[in-house]
Amino acid sequence: MKVLITGCHGLLGQRLVKYAPPGCDVVATDVHKDSQFIRAEIYRPCDLTVRDAVINLIDTVQPNDIINAAAFTDVDGAEEQRDLCWLVNVIAMENLVQAARRVHADIYHVSTDYIFNGENGPYREDDTPNPLGFYGQSKLAAEQVLKGSPLNFTIARTMVLYGVSENNRPEFVGWLIKKLRNNEPVHIVTDQIGNTTLNDDLARALWKLVRRSYHGVVHIAGREILSRYDFALKIANVFNLNVSLINPITTADFRQKAPRPLKSGLNVDKAIHTLGLVLSDVEGGLRKYKALIENS
Ligand SMILES: NC(=O)c1ccc[n+]([C@@H]2O[C@H](COP(=O)([O-])OP(=O)(O)OC[C@H]3O[C@@H](n4cnc5c(N)ncnc54)[C@H](OP(=O)(O)O)[C@@H]3O)[C@@H](O)[C@H]2O)c1
Repeated sequence: MKVLITGCHGLLGQRLVKYAPPGCDVVATDVHKDSQFIRAEIYRPCDLTVRDAVINLIDTVQPNDIINAAAFTDVDGAEEQRDLCWLVNVIAMENLVQAARRVHADIYHVSTDYIFNGENGPYREDDTPNPLGFYGQSKLAAEQVLKGSPLNFTIARTMVLYGVSENNRPEFVGWLIKKLRNNEPVHIVTDQIGNTTLNDDLARALWKLVRRSYHGVVHIAGREILSRYDFALKIANVFNLNVSLINPITTADFRQKAPRPLKSGLNVDKAIHTLGLVLSDVEGGLRKYKALIENS
């Protein structure tokens, strides 16, 4: 099995490299010229928005499978940097599809709950998408590129990824712990509701799907649904931090640049009951995160 992992510097990509099954021949790529924490012998830099570069990489590597964890993930930034967001999330997907066709590779692509409008979550795999912001529109367009291709593919939708990473990628749990340890008050929205997902759970689940050659659309996220405010309280609890620094606020008052799906969430019944994937509940995920920090 030869697998190409894209976005290997990212919050998810790093853990995909870490949990590659024994005997699997992995090549890892990202846009950065050098890699400080991916073994040089498996790292091949590539800007996925450049078609010839992608074709050259995939012709050379000849992967059986491609796990696409590369993306433009700055939800608010996407409203202002629309061209770049579209290039990285949609044009790069077109390039991957074209290159994968030449070597008959399957694509495992990571998508998001932001393709839904958050009026009546949690959402099932076949619910109708209707993104509110540009990031969600670009991620939906990428899904459509893949669905319109002749390739075997999997779309794994996830939400609110957190977890450890070598280069401390920005993520909610690490950010909150830092703030509370510094005794800084924070305002956390009470009306954005959904699952929260440990990057390690998602990485391991994706590998299971690759090993089984599973194809289809599946929601892979933590098994519980809660508000971001309640998540913050649980984080403070698990890490013994000062809960009184966490102040509730509504999304309307918080004024993020991009609109957010409010009553969101991904129904993970298919992942758990049909596919047998192991997904943590909130406290379980946070305790695994804590153990990883303490043992690093
Ligand atoms: N994080 C979340 O809460 C969340 C929630 C739902 C779904 N997802 C989806 O999950 C997947 C993984 O997310 P993540 O949080 O791991 O993302 P991430 O940490 O932002 O990692 C994405 C990686 O892709 C790289 N990249 C950007 N432009 C590229 C290009 N032109 N060519 C090659 N690589 C490029 C990024 O490099 P730079 O850092 O230099 O840009 C980064 O290393 C994405 O598809 C995302 O949409 C994430």
